[in-house]
Amino acid sequence: MKPVEWLGDRLKIIDQSRLPDKVVYLELKNYHGVISAIVELKVRGAPAIGIAAAYGIALGAMSLKSAGVKQFDKEFQRILREFAASRPTAVNLFYAIDKMRQAAAGVSSIEGAKKKLLLAAETIRKHEESAMRRLSKNGSALIKDGWTILTHCNTGSLATGTTYGTALGVIKAAGEQGKKIRVFADETRPVLQGARLTTWELIQEGIPVTLITDNMAGYLMSRGLIDCAIVGADRIAANGDTANKIGTYSVAVLCKENRVPFYVAAPLSSIDINIRSGRDIIIEDRNPDEVTSIRGIRIAPEGVQVMNPAFDVTPHKYISAIITEKSIIKKPYKLSISKLFEEEI
Ligand code: MRU
Repeated sequence: MKPVEWLGDRLKIIDQSRLPDKVVYLELKNYHGVISAIVELKVRGAPAIGIAAAYGIALGAMSLKSAGVKQFDKEFQRILREFAASRPTAVNLFYAIDKMRQAAAGVSSIEGAKKKLLLAAETIRKHEESAMRRLSKNGSALIKDGWTILTHCNTGSLATGTTYGTALGVIKAAGEQGKKIRVFADETRPVLQGARLTTWELIQEGIPVTLITDNMAGYLMSRGLIDCAIVGADRIAANGDTANKIGTYSVAVLCKENRVPFYVAAPLSSIDINIRSGRDIIIEDRNPDEVTSIRGIRIAPEGVQVMNPAFDVTPHKYISAIITEKSIIKKPYKLSISKLFEEEI
């Protein structure tokens, strides 16, 4: 499966909003299409957003017909701002934007800038592929044969644009090592990334998966049916506080209460060392229709008041370990995270 693929002059993605009932590929020929795909969750998951945005930025730059380098730079900066406004929480988007800005900085010709931008997007994709492979292997060491794992949202190939993934990557790697594992997948309301995407990916991997609604996790834990929980991350602050799909915080608190290890799996590109704590992470508010309807079918009365925060923040005290491509880090996270960044990523 190639959820995000560059075809030389356009970006091909799987439309994740149509899965699992329809496997539809979209070919995005201009950068506006890439931005819409990000906003509409056609491409979603922090690392996949970063990769798609990088190619989208390159696509935007390639379409510019600027009169000179100065003009090109002005228009290029506008494209970067448009991408930055698409989704605020996943830091991978801003990581990609920064890398692309650096790639075009100080170039002497427009053609040179366009070539460098394409190369930079490809480098981000390759970097994430390798990061996800390494973090999956690192994390698999935590998983014991026979374990049952709870996961929330979707964190595999679709969410990362890579072969493995973050939380699902760890699960896949443990499966490949012959460990007999089972997964409980939270459905992940409101847009059901768990029910639609995680179960779809795990079935294809041949890993036994049981779908539950989000409010069942506590019951399962209280019965001793979960050995650990693993989730991904959209942005990890310098102190380890972790923003991830709405409902992650509830899972973490339930894990603490039931003495179940709670792991976060994320590449270094999901860690934002410029943000001191989770309090400073911007949480995206999405369209209320996602809550009042399920796939186009209205389930709530007209006019009802709705909240739809797409993410929540799990305080670092609930996190047993953070699995990265470099190593598995533990508390105190402020120290262990700063050590991770001592060498450049
Ligand atoms: O709103 P989404 O579907 O983009 O949210 C995705 C998540 O919350 C994932 O858990 C996170 O991006 C980590 S994916 C590797």
